[in-house]
Amino acid sequence: MIQTLPKAAAILLASASLALAQPAPVINVNTAKPVAEIQPTMWGVFFEDINFGADGGIYAELVKNRSFEFFKPLMGWKQEGKKRTEGDLLVQNRKDEGSNNPRYLHITANNLATGDMGLTNEGFKGMGLKNGLRYDFSVMYRLLSGSITLRAELLNETNEVVGSGVLTPATKDGQWHKQQVSFTASQTVQKGKLRLWVEGNGTVDLDMVSLFPEDTWKGRPGGMRADMIQMLADMKPGFVRFPGGCIVEGHDLSQRYQWKKTIGPVEDRQLIINRWNFEFAHRPAPDYFQTFGLGFLEYFQVCEDIGAEPLPILNCGMACQFNTAELVPLDQLDPYVQDALDLIEFANGNVSTAWGKKRADLGHPKPFNLKFLGVGNENWGPQYIERLAVFQKAIKAKYPDMKLVCSSGTDPNGDRFDYLNGKLRAMNADLIDEHYYRRPEWFLENVTRYDNYPRTGSKVFAGEWAAQSDRVVSVNNKNNWLCALSEAAFMTGLERNAAVVNMASYAPLFAHAEGWQWTPDLIWVDNLRVYGTPNYYVQKLFSLYKGTHVLDLKQQGAIVAGTDSLYASAVLDQKTNEVIVKLVNVSNKPVDRTIQLDGAKKLKPTATLSLLTTDKLDAVNTFENATAVSPVERQIPVDARKKAITLTLVPHSLSVIRVPVN
Ligand code: AHR
Repeated sequence: MIQTLPKAAAILLASASLALAQPAPVINVNTAKPVAEIQPTMWGVFFEDINFGADGGIYAELVKNRSFEFFKPLMGWKQEGKKRTEGDLLVQNRKDEGSNNPRYLHITANNLATGDMGLTNEGFKGMGLKNGLRYDFSVMYRLLSGSITLRAELLNETNEVVGSGVLTPATKDGQWHKQQVSFTASQTVQKGKLRLWVEGNGTVDLDMVSLFPEDTWKGRPGGMRADMIQMLADMKPGFVRFPGGCIVEGHDLSQRYQWKKTIGPVEDRQLIINRWNFEFAHRPAPDYFQTFGLGFLEYFQVCEDIGAEPLPILNCGMACQFNTAELVPLDQLDPYVQDALDLIEFANGNVSTAWGKKRADLGHPKPFNLKFLGVGNENWGPQYIERLAVFQKAIKAKYPDMKLVCSSGTDPNGDRFDYLNGKLRAMNADLIDEHYYRRPEWFLENVTRYDNYPRTGSKVFAGEWAAQSDRVVSVNNKNNWLCALSEAAFMTGLERNAAVVNMASYAPLFAHAEGWQWTPDLIWVDNLRVYGTPNYYVQKLFSLYKGTHVLDLKQQGAIVAGTDSLYASAVLDQKTNEVIVKLVNVSNKPVDRTIQLDGAKKLKPTATLSLLTTDKLDAVNTFENATAVSPVERQIPVDARKKAITLTLVPHSLSVIRVPVN
């Protein structure tokens, strides 16, 4: 058990010492004989559009309800102006044209000047604006008569104009056109707005009213928030799982995630409600929809950018079993299976294939080299197994090397899990996706969970997990050090069992401070800022120093999984020629250990210690103090003659020691 904290003054800094009063107990690491390979995918990230993670989050669009497709077509918009008259501003619908984005704004202007008639968009939780940064305002318009000018203004919290530009629709041919104007913000504003004045005489239709900052990830127009992706890139994740999560399943099947509807021009991507809009009565989010501006091409692109394997998860023909549990009859499953086959072709096919060509036409001729595909999220029961079998047969027949990720339901134990685990192993599932949202104690008690898992057959994808300081879906859950520390201890068990556990990801990934439905979350953002939680730094340390091979680590012949409140694992990194030892001290007392590097040849006199600790188990990071709990790095001495490092592991700490070896 994690004990309560001692006084801050009693906490010692981790210190390497060659002269302890008592000889420190010895932990032996056999550096000469790796026991298992570690997959490059070992530590990854799980992305879902929950907590305004995509729209209003990583997707940098600042205008909420840009296409007027929310259930309330003017949600997020406010009509303004002193000469506003009834009927001059109408939402119309072109559903008869078969449009995916049928609504637009029909505007009649009668001799209007600035201030006479307009609209203000409030942004998702306001709009973050940065002083000196360029903003790209664009609209789709259809100029029907007259001559009209649109004046776009950035407003600060007190409605002062802090940037503006004028856009005069150029073509009057009764067709839709896109036009853009850019301008610079003269202030940094946490909760800005966009105001649009209509000037002149005539009639015009508007759609896709959009505002993007210049500083998107890799400067891509209409792209992603660079600061959020950078946090992921910094972790060097082995994979990105997307797009969820429950969002894959949908409240009912009409709301399931359909990847084909998320590619191509953004104005043609059909918006749907986000299931987290209404999932929790205690955290309603009536303005939460999915625009799919972050669609499958963008997901693949981000994976490529940050060197992570893409891991898309597809609907298996079942809607969320906590909600409607709607089921596609087996004889109607073909379109779902076809979506999976087409996705593989979209990702990997050469440009002579239909979907490979589609990818090339969208600007990415090079294949994405997809190796993993998930079928179903948290689905369970015989209905899941029946449907999975159909997918498995079809996918393996065409793509035998594709690794399929299969669901073991919502819990890591119990009848549901046992049934699925048995069936999936009998089906020779490539990877079984296990989820555990549990209290910190559970993580400590389950550090040895995988020690007795079969070494052959199906591998484990620990696909969603996080220690809950209160209980699952409680609004009181905190990303505190107690939770992060218990996760670190647990991760030594995952690492030790890398022969079995090939992938692992904390969940959920992102949360907007004003828009979350689920907590805890790995990374928190507001409109301008981002910070990693203590849990983030744990994940990052494991991921950066994942190594290539597991090494045997024992104290007196036994694994270190709770001995004197210590948890430990060791790896070899054949790429950097380092032995990496991870030690977690969950007690409130310093613990001395000598780490004996058995079989090591010549050693340098120093190693690098990354120490993550704080004297408060309830410590959290915040926007104001973003790195309060974050790793500190320093050199520690190595006894090169004895091939040993002796050190004091400070209370409540994760120590990652990198020792250069030949
Ligand atoms: O991570 C939040 C949710 O938890 C996911 O959407 C779902 O898969 C799980 O129940």
